[in-house]
Amino acid sequence: MTTHGVDSGFSFAVLTLSDKGSRGEREDTSGEYIQKRLAEEGFVLKSYAVVPDKQDVIIKNLIDLVDVQKISLIVTTGGTGVSPSDVTPEAMSKVIEKEVVGMAEAMRAASLLKTSRAMLSRGKVGIRGESLIVNLPGSLKAARENLEVVVPVLQHALEKIGGSTSDCGVN
Ligand code: MTE
Repeated sequence: MTTHGVDSGFSFAVLTLSDKGSRGEREDTSGEYIQKRLAEEGFVLKSYAVVPDKQDVIIKNLIDLVDVQKISLIVTTGGTGVSPSDVTPEAMSKVIEKEVVGMAEAMRAASLLKTSRAMLSRGKVGIRGESLIVNLPGSLKAARENLEVVVPVLQHALEKIGGSTSDCGVN
């Protein structure tokens, strides 16, 4: 069951990781799509930025979004692949305290049914403090297909991360 149309109240941020995007040389269609889709689900946009895909920049931005801005859900797009400039997973390893392996595995498994190139995404999902950070690949198609896999569990995940003791035995 999705939370479609329900005001979840949880804040979210979109962080697009793209050298070209940060220089204004590429339109950020993925970042715009993610903002729209999560707003439809009732999440409240608090921050949006396009930054270069440099490891120290990613780490600094993620830590600020979690520790200073206290944003519940942070969705990144880009930099998950295997090219020399792709360092999102390496930055994540330095930021997250717990890895939510199943969410990343579920995205890759569902994506493999659409393209064998899905196995090239090294994206992670993890928790820092009371925030959930989700890495999506960079293209609009890939971001959309991966986001759709995790949307149904986001609200419950955030409730649990916040300490909810509600029953998990439904849906
Ligand atoms: N996942 C889905 N669902 N659909 C896609 O088209 N593209 C793949 C993969 N994951 C794709 C996908 C490709 S081609 C790459 S290179 C990796 O995501 C990494 O993308 P990134 O480097 O832009 O993050």
